[in-house]
This record gives sequence, C-alpha cells and structure tokens, in this order.
Amino acid sequence: MKEKILKILTEATDHISGETLSKELGVSRTAVWKSINKLKDEGYQIDSIRNKGYRLERNTTELVTDAVRLALPEGSIFETVKVYDTIDSTNTEAKRLWQSGHRGPALIIASEQTQGKGRRGRRWLSPKGECIAVTMLLMPDIPPTHASMLTLIAGLSVCRAVEELTGLHTMIKWPNDLVLGQKKVCGILTEMSAEMDFVHYVLVGTGINVNQMVFDDEIRGIATSLAAEYGKEISRPALIGAVVGAFEELYEVFVREKNLTFMLEDYNKHCINVGRELKVITRQEELIGTGLGINPSGELQIKLKDGTITQVNAGEVSVRGLYGYI
Ligand code: BTN
Repeated sequence: MKEKILKILTEATDHISGETLSKELGVSRTAVWKSINKLKDEGYQIDSIRNKGYRLERNTTELVTDAVRLALPEGSIFETVKVYDTIDSTNTEAKRLWQSGHRGPALIIASEQTQGKGRRGRRWLSPKGECIAVTMLLMPDIPPTHASMLTLIAGLSVCRAVEELTGLHTMIKWPNDLVLGQKKVCGILTEMSAEMDFVHYVLVGTGINVNQMVFDDEIRGIATSLAAEYGKEISRPALIGAVVGAFEELYEVFVREKNLTFMLEDYNKHCINVGRELKVITRQEELIGTGLGINPSGELQIKLKDGTITQVNAGEVSVRGLYGYI
C-alpha cells in the first residue's frame, strides 16, 4: 500500500487529497495517513496541506526497497529486489540466494557491508548510509570464458548513469575500477559458478562511494565519492535505477551477440588506460607499454616499447600517474 501511494504521488503534478487516495486504494483515510508517515520516516519529503492533501516534494536519498523499485526501468529483468540496511557482503548474500534454490535475475543491495569483498581477497569498505553496494545475480547463456566481460559492461553502465544524473565524467581503469579526478570512486567484483562449458550464475558486485565526505586513513589518498566531486548529495535509489537501466540495455545486446563490439567505441572513450603508460603484472611477466583500449573480447591491448601489440585479460594494471604509480 505504501508503494502504491508512492507511485500515485510520484505521478501526480499537484496535491492529492487523503480522500482520493483512500477511495482509489479502497482503504481508510487513517491507513493512508499512517502510510504517509512511514514514507516520511523513510526520508521522503511530503508536503501535507489541510483540505488539499499530499504532494511529494523530494524523493528519498535513503536506500529503501520502494524507492529502489520505483527507480528501476520499466519491465526490468530484476523482479527480485532485496535491500538490506546491513549485510556481510551483497555478493555472499546473492550466492546464498542461489544456493537456497532461487533462479532468475536478482538485485541484492545494501547500505552497509560488514565484510565487503574487493578483488584478490582485499577488503571493500562500505560505510553505512553513504555508499551503494549492489550485486546483480545473473544466469546468462554465455560461455564461462565470457563472464569477465560483464565487469566491463557494469563499468560502462556506472559511467553512463553517473553522467546522466550529475554530468560528472567518470573514467574506467580497466577492468574494474571507476575513477573521478585521479581517485577511485567505484569498484567491481565479478564472481562466477560454472562448469567447464556452462555458467550456473554470475555475480556482478558493484561498490560505489556515493555520499562519503570523510575517508578512512588507509584509503584517503586514493578514494573519493560522487558527492565530494559533485558538491551535492546524490539519491542512491535514483543512482541504482540509472545503473540498472544502463546495464540492462548493454546486457541484452551482449547476451545476444556474445562480444563487446557494440560498445567498444564508448568504452574506449571512457577508458583511462588509453594513451597512458601502463605497467602490467601478469602471472608470467611484467610488461610496460601504452594502453590502446579493449578489443571485442574485453582484453586490454597494449603497445609495447618494441612496437609489438599484446593483449592482456587478467593481471594488475597500473596507470602511470594514478594511485601512486609514478
Ligand atoms: C575492488 O575494487 O576490489 C572491487 C570492489 C567490489 C565491491 C563490491 S560492493 C558490492 C559487492 N559486494 C562485495 O562484497 N563486493 C562487491
């Protein structure tokens, strides 16, 4: 019922009376009033005027389920949406959901993670109320070798969403960081369960520093948030809606075409590695060269000092001038 009232208020252009709401929803005016109060508690600003009714002044910036659902694109593939105040890790929760028998795309979102996971066993800090931790549980019909391309799709989706909402131009540090200015604003961790030739599920976990203004000592020098650069608080439900919208558009094409040709140009425009000096540490070797951008398989192409061009699909890539690589 809260969700229905919110939908009506969101679509309305003026105040809607309590009587109209109660008739439309077939409930008492007291029930309407109670739901309005709950929405206010969740951070929605609702103007109430005697004899005129209610008007939604401002959407909530809090991560609450109704607001996230409303922000998702129409006909979203994510029918299951779970929003937590606190959870160990949204990736871990998505895994548990699959293990409990859930099938079909799901969105697991948290306002705080107590054991947020970064790449290669690192920690990911998600302080309460300021960031977004979101995991997309997906069961795509793609070869397991293609799962890493979903990290690149998620990265470009966040760039597009941030640009849409704030006009800020984020860059992707291939394959899984987003950078604003010279600092990290988002990280992506993609995990998979698969057989040799069959994907059970892929988890695309994205952590975005949204409204943090203060950072722990351990990351202060290398991390920033969208609000710190934008100068204003950003609605987290709206941001999730925009990210999911952008992701779904790309994902649909990717699952059909099974390569990244369709987004190469835009990706490479957003890729901070392009034209910069890079150091790549793979299992076998350490390479120095200039970034050329990704190819249709999502590998990073690098022109080495001797002029040869090589591709890397894994490994740690440092970009000269970024995160302390001088
Ligand atoms: C990295 O930069 O090392 C990747 C960080 C990924 C963090 C996200 S937050 C949502 C999801 N849940 C996790 O525990 N990790 C990912």
